[in-house]
This record gives sequence, structure tokens and C-alpha cells, in this order.
Amino acid sequence: MRISFTAPTPATGDVGQGAWVVSAAEGRALLPAAVRADKASGGALTRALKVSTFKGKAGEFLEVLAPAGLKVSRILLAGLGKADALDEKGLETLGGKIVARLQAAGEDTATWELEAPKGVPIKPAQFAAHLALGARLAGYAFDKYRTRNLEDYRKTLKRVRIAAVEPAEKVFAGLSALADGVFLARDLVNEPPNVLHPAEFARRARAVLSKVGVKVEVLGEEEMKRQGFGALLGVGQGSARESQLVVMRWSGAPKAKKPKPIAFVGKGVCFDSGGLSLKPGGGMMGMKGDMAGAAAVVGTMLALAGRKARVDAVGVIGLVENMPGGDAIRPDDVLTSLSGQTIEVLNTDAEGRLVLADALTYTQRRFAPRAVIDLATLTGAVIQTLGFEHAGVFSNDDKLAERLAEAGSHTGERVWRLPLDPFYDKMLKSKIADMKNIGGPNSGAITAAQFLKRFIENGTHWAHLDIAGVAWQDGERKPTIPSWGTGWGVRLLNRLVSEHYES
Ligand code: BES
Ligand code: MN
Ligand code: ZN
Repeated sequence: MRISFTAPTPATGDVGQGAWVVSAAEGRALLPAAVRADKASGGALTRALKVSTFKGKAGEFLEVLAPAGLKVSRILLAGLGKADALDEKGLETLGGKIVARLQAAGEDTATWELEAPKGVPIKPAQFAAHLALGARLAGYAFDKYRTRNLEDYRKTLKRVRIAAVEPAEKVFAGLSALADGVFLARDLVNEPPNVLHPAEFARRARAVLSKVGVKVEVLGEEEMKRQGFGALLGVGQGSARESQLVVMRWSGAPKAKKPKPIAFVGKGVCFDSGGLSLKPGGGMMGMKGDMAGAAAVVGTMLALAGRKARVDAVGVIGLVENMPGGDAIRPDDVLTSLSGQTIEVLNTDAEGRLVLADALTYTQRRFAPRAVIDLATLTGAVIQTLGFEHAGVFSNDDKLAERLAEAGSHTGERVWRLPLDPFYDKMLKSKIADMKNIGGPNSGAITAAQFLKRFIENGTHWAHLDIAGVAWQDGERKPTIPSWGTGWGVRLLNRLVSEHYES
């Protein structure tokens, strides 16, 4: 989908072909472009309003097909709802809904001319650019493996022109880079695991990121063995595929003051069978997405580099495949992690924390970051706790947790804080090693977080996001998230960086 911006359309209503999308405030007051569309069509909108129940609520539509006197195929009147629906997130949702509506109608071209009612404190350029972001996000599709009945899946909408009284290109350029990052994360999560094994994931991260100035290093099994990544390598040892660690560095902070980087660490289990503690068939489905934390990190790095964020950021992802087999780790094995701490593995399906343990140690020792945020589809327990609307956040830093919550409320990638406490830490006591890799039958998301906390050194500011409930979706879809893989986390982290870590 190509999105461009134009000046307001002429009073004659000559907007060319395709759909003309205009807006009404709640209470059905037509905004200026809608008034022009009404006049140009000889009052078609006013007549349609009279015979409809349209109230101008957010996401409500009124459509006039083939209006007399105009070349357009339809006038689509979009309700804007209450003023507080017109924040960035609300505009993105609206942009997404309009795209869904136009796709369903089979349109290929549209001119959008929506306006904020007087007194709503959002600048026209921001208004237009966030509508455009919503449009782009809604236009995503993952159809590369379909070979038949392509007509049924085709996205018809090719061109969207968005009219605004103020140039919006500059604001949109940054948001479009963000959308690129979200799309990359979605693509990685949607890819099947026979295609996207660890080495292929690493190859793609390198290929995409090195083009935008991110330095990418890939460590293979030999190098990790030499350095002592016993926990991460333990998870991968039952797989025919080689485990990888990918280190990504974006240096965008101004040369003068170089603060320590912010670091993102991702769980990249390209497929989680459970290992010898094998998952039942139903529970294994979807486990190609168990690398969504890593995907969010790679997507975030692309977004930051793509918009030339004035920040130094590091991404570290541990890529493995968790498989049963003659070489696989056994329940009862003891692994020595990169930190030196030993771990009794009592359930090979609690593998994500093993991968993250070494990735966290590596990240802290090499980069001494000002904060570390890890993302992982870590536990089924977090889904039982929070369902599908919030990710769980755990942190040793109230301010960081607060900032993540705030960034979540603006982007729609919402998080809810859960507790850390020595009481839960005790549940990780092992009979023979420094810790075991599972807690008790309850509070599983918390004991997993406590496990990770044991690998946080010298009071490093740290937050852990358990994204098991939000990384993919099987139920109802939001207009801006039209695929199974959601790309969750890219918008959240991008916002966190732009609000708090850019100079
Ligand atoms: N990848 C899973 C967690 C998961 C489950 C993510 C469902 C998304 C949907 C993780 O590796 C896992 O298997 N966790 C176990 C931990 C348990 C063995 C302590 C779980 O949650 O059951
Ligand atoms: Mn598992
Ligand atoms: Zn897993």
C-alpha cells in the first residue's frame, strides 16, 4: 500500500477516482471536508444522514455509493467519536478500521480527508500521520505461502492519499520506520519453524539490519561453548539445528555525550517442543512463535535505526530450537550457566529462562547497559493471570516499570506489573545445584521472573516482559493487527526510547 500526503482537496470536489473518506464529529456534525463533499454531491450526505442511524461515534461509518456529479466511487463518512478517542492510538485504530472497510469494498484508491473538531489538541500533521500509521499497520498480510485462490486473499487497496492542511511527511517518516520494525517482527513470528531455524533467523537479522547501519555479530555454538554459555547451549543440544547468539548495536547518540546503551534481550526459541518433557500435541501448536521476544528485539532495532533515533541501543537474542532426541538435555541434568551459577533442569520445557540467563549475563558483562529489558514468551502462567490484553512486567526499578506502563497506554501494547519477592525466589531452591529451573505448581510467571532475576548483576536496572499472551492471536483481531503474529513490543519499546532515552 502506498501512502502519500496532499493539500486539502478543492471546493469543487474534484478528488479523482476511488473512495473519498471524510469525517463527522460525534453528534453527526460534518467537518469541513465532509461539508464540501456534501455540497459537491448535491447534498447526498445530508440526505443519507436523514435516513440513517449514524451518530458519528468512533469507527462508525456512513457510505454513499456513486454520488451524482462526482467521479468518486463512494463517499465514506467516518465518525470520529469523542475528543478523547482522537489521541495517537485512537487515530491509528480509526485508520485501521477505514482500511478494513475499503478492502472489504474492494477499493484500490482512496483520498482521506479527516479533520479533528475544533479544540482537540492534536496538530494536523500528527493527526494525518497517525491515521497513516494505522492504515499501514492494517495493510499487513503474510500470504507468501499461499499458492491457490489468491483472489480471496488479495489486498485491493493500493493507494491512499491523505489530505492535511500541514505537511505530514516528516512525522510519518518516523512512524513508517516504526511500521517497518513491526512488520519485520510479524514476519519472523509468522514464518514456519522449518524455514526459520536459528541460523536462518540470524541470517535475516543480519541482512536487514546491516543495511540500515546496525552492527550485527553472530556467535555460533563453538564460540559460545568456548565462552561458557552452558545454559543456552543445553537447550539447543537436542536439535539438529545450530544455536546462535545475535548481537546488534545501533549507535545513534550524539558523539559528545555517550551514555551507556539501553539493552534489549529476547528469547528466540524457534520451536518449543518442550524437549524430553514433551508438550502434548495441542500445546505444541503455535510454538513456532516462541521466538517472539527475539523478533520484537530485531524489529525494535530496525525501527530505531530506520528513524535514526538519537540513542545507543543494543539487542541480544538467544536463538535455539528445543527438541527431544538422543543428545537432548534430560530432566535431572545440571547445567553451568555463563554466570557460573549451576542449574538443575527438572523440566526441559522451562527452557526460555535458560536461554535468557546466558543472554542476560553476556549483555551485562559486555555492555554494562543503563537498563536491560528482556522480552520472552516465557510462561503459560502469565496467560492464566492476565489473558491476552496485557503483558506481564516484572522489574527491580519502579521508575522503569512506570515508564513501560505509560508507554503501553499510549501505544496500545499494554503491560501490567506483577510482583518479585524473596518468598517466590525460595521456590527455586535445588537439592543439589544453585537453583532448579521450575518453581512450584502455582505463580509460574513469577517464579520464572525470579529465576531471571538471579542473573541480574550489580543492581542493573532491569525489566522482564512476559509476552506469552500477546505475541500471537487466535481470536478476534484488532484492525491494526491483522495477522497471527502481532509484532508486539516494537511500538512499546520504540516509545519508551523516544520518551526517555533519546538525547
Ligand atoms: N514457551 C512456553 C510458554 C508458552 C506457553 C508461551 C503457551 C505461549 C503459550 C515455555 O517455554 C514453557 O513451556 N513454559 C512452561 C514452564 C513450566 C514447564 C514451568 C509452561 O508455561 O508451562
Ligand atoms: Mn517450553
Ligand atoms: Zn518456550
